Amino acid sequence: MIKPCNILIIGGEGDLAFRKLYPALFNLECQGLLPEGTTIYGIGRGRFTEEEFFKNVKTWIEKSEYTIEVKSDMWELFSARVKQFVGDATSPESLLTLKSELNDNDNVVYLSTPPNIFSKVCKALDDAKLVENTRIVVEKPLGDSKASFEEINQHFQAIFNEDQIYRIDHYLGKETVQNLLALRFANSLFEPLWSRHYIDHVQITAAETVGAGGRWAFYDKAGALRDMVQNHLLQLLCLVSMEPPAKNDSNDVRDEKLKALRCLKPITAENVEALTIRGQYEQGVADDKVAAAYINEEDAQDSESNTETFVAVKAEIENSRWHGVPFYLRTGKRMPIRYSEITIQFKPIAHQVLAGSASLPANRLTIRLQPNEGVELRLINKVPGLSEETELQSVGLDLSFDKAFKDHRSPSAYERMLLDVIRADQTLFMRADELGAAWGWVDGIIEGWEANSQPALKYNAGSWGPVESTVMLSRDGRQWFDYGRNS
Ligand code: BG6
Repeated sequence: MIKPCNILIIGGEGDLAFRKLYPALFNLECQGLLPEGTTIYGIGRGRFTEEEFFKNVKTWIEKSEYTIEVKSDMWELFSARVKQFVGDATSPESLLTLKSELNDNDNVVYLSTPPNIFSKVCKALDDAKLVENTRIVVEKPLGDSKASFEEINQHFQAIFNEDQIYRIDHYLGKETVQNLLALRFANSLFEPLWSRHYIDHVQITAAETVGAGGRWAFYDKAGALRDMVQNHLLQLLCLVSMEPPAKNDSNDVRDEKLKALRCLKPITAENVEALTIRGQYEQGVADDKVAAAYINEEDAQDSESNTETFVAVKAEIENSRWHGVPFYLRTGKRMPIRYSEITIQFKPIAHQVLAGSASLPANRLTIRLQPNEGVELRLINKVPGLSEETELQSVGLDLSFDKAFKDHRSPSAYERMLLDVIRADQTLFMRADELGAAWGWVDGIIEGWEANSQPALKYNAGSWGPVESTVMLSRDGRQWFDYGRNS
């Protein structure tokens, strides 16, 4: 049974809260998953009157693509448990006032704020004695290097125990990402094949059509490697490559992910140029519109910026399961299509009995995170007919979730993550040692880029990134599987 709690959203008048958190909580309400007695406090400095605040909450719920349906009885139920609290979350006095309104239930404190106030909020929570029975949820960015992550982390760990800290990576809340564990560990079909003996290579792509405009100043300090690879793409790599956990238990799963990260072959100044490509978009056409170059975005502040908006990395895992199997990771802004996918390319069969099979792509398993969530397995089949020669074709066995699970809706990542915090389940949240290991590997790349002054190569907005990214794979006799192509 789920226990009720007080959900305190710090930054409760901010963009993330309106766009993601209230809509996700509303959906939990509609599904009867917010237990009686749960109260939600939107904590902010009072940018909005109470009326404006509730209007915003409702507007964003209505706008969200995940919203089930805004029925008036559900809205009444939900809005009755939401409270606007005007105060300063870095001040113990404010938090003491808030505390006097809370009941004895557990607290879930969601830090939806810029990282520069994390330490002050932690201290204020401690001073206001709001630490016991509290779970604290933290959003990225958690640092920009291993050292800065450790410094931020230390503020949390000085006050909270590790089992109270929930570090969010919203990619782990995506339905198909969780399905990876089921696919790997509940099907006898794949596990025996899941190694260098049968797998040629793995590709992980997260492509976006949007640019960095609107959050340029933040993005320019981060770049695609820190913004997407250090967290989302590495988490996907872990779930694909980790050993089976002893149990489906939060620490067992995270122990295995940590081991996978520790096995990543270091990328340093010596090999960084061969193993990574940086790119930055120039003017082009994206989403059928002319898109400005990164350095000419409306809020751009540095026309000389060398920040990467695209990155491709050839990662290798040094263990006996994966020796010699490249994991090609790629992410970029202003790509032609928005999609995220993991593709497992199996090796061709050793001896070809049927003429023509050698020219067809070997079996390939694709896990589609978005759009059109699902799994596709490409198999070589005989084309039906009486022709003398056996005609072969590569055909996809398609398990689209919207067709296979017609009566089930896929919840948003935030619904899943918030419900897990309410249930006190840390499996989908990142442990400090995991994040430290991920940063350690990424630091090597950044130091290598700096040491070699590796430039961000230009690519047109609306293209698949610099041509050098294609060359990196063709050198290995491979090519990127762009969405809907190469099938
Ligand atoms: C965020 C990044 O973590 O993930 C953004 O900071 C990016 O730059 C976003 O746009 C992508 O998330 P999704 O779920 O849309 O793939």
